[in-house]
Amino acid sequence: MTDIKISDLRKQYKKDSLEDTELPEDPVVLFRKWFEEAIEAEVTEPNAMALATVTGAETPNVRMVLMKGLEDHSISFYTNYESRKAKELAAHPVAACTIWWAELERQIRFSGKVEKLTVAESEDYFRSRPRESQIGAWASNQSTPVASRGDLQSRFKEMEEKFEGKEIPRPDFWGGYKIVFETIEFWQGRPGRLHDRLLYQQSAGNWNRQRLAP
Ligand SMILES: Cc1cc2nc3c(=O)[nH]c(=O)nc-3n(C[C@H](O)[C@H](O)[C@H](O)COP(=O)(O)O)c2cc1C
Repeated sequence: MTDIKISDLRKQYKKDSLEDTELPEDPVVLFRKWFEEAIEAEVTEPNAMALATVTGAETPNVRMVLMKGLEDHSISFYTNYESRKAKELAAHPVAACTIWWAELERQIRFSGKVEKLTVAESEDYFRSRPRESQIGAWASNQSTPVASRGDLQSRFKEMEEKFEGKEIPRPDFWGGYKIVFETIEFWQGRPGRLHDRLLYQQSAGNWNRQRLAP
């Protein structure tokens, strides 16, 4: 970086607003609407989200994952059940996520309790994946050290040969989770940093809604 002054980087947000009159009782209605608009706007990886978990040391840990389902009041994603995140979720079955759609100047944050999907749900999704990704799931002991890229490639090749001409079964160590929404916050960038923030919180089966200062 030669002459870039990071503190001078700033952007005026002015694409849209979030009016109280357009807010549904159920936040999932707005989540779906925004998601459809992200797809229409051709946002890059509209289903990518940062997933934060709690470690044994009660410190946060965060990484990107791909949302693969939005059903009722939960979202799902898939991963390795022996990965670092899986260990953290086993010890602390809660998560918080953030999605940022720069093209729409929108952020969605949500949090909730985490459960594993059923074996049938994980199998269904695993079957729908490209063969290469299925082999990749077998080849990667996610979050463990690898001696070299070459070792990983050999392992991939080994699995490719093992399953040649056969349907690839889902490894027991690979599957999905769902995050059942307890809070969802919608953020729309606005001029002068007076952004719109609408927080929905689940309480005794109802959704309470509050506008927050940006
Ligand atoms: C855009 C993007 C999408 C990703 N999607 C997934 C995913 O759906 N599942 C997954 O296990 N890892 C995904 N990853 C990799 C994770 O960020 C992470 O490196 C991996 O899951 C290991 O995390 P852990 O060691 O905390 O368990 C994705 C990475 C990026 C950049």
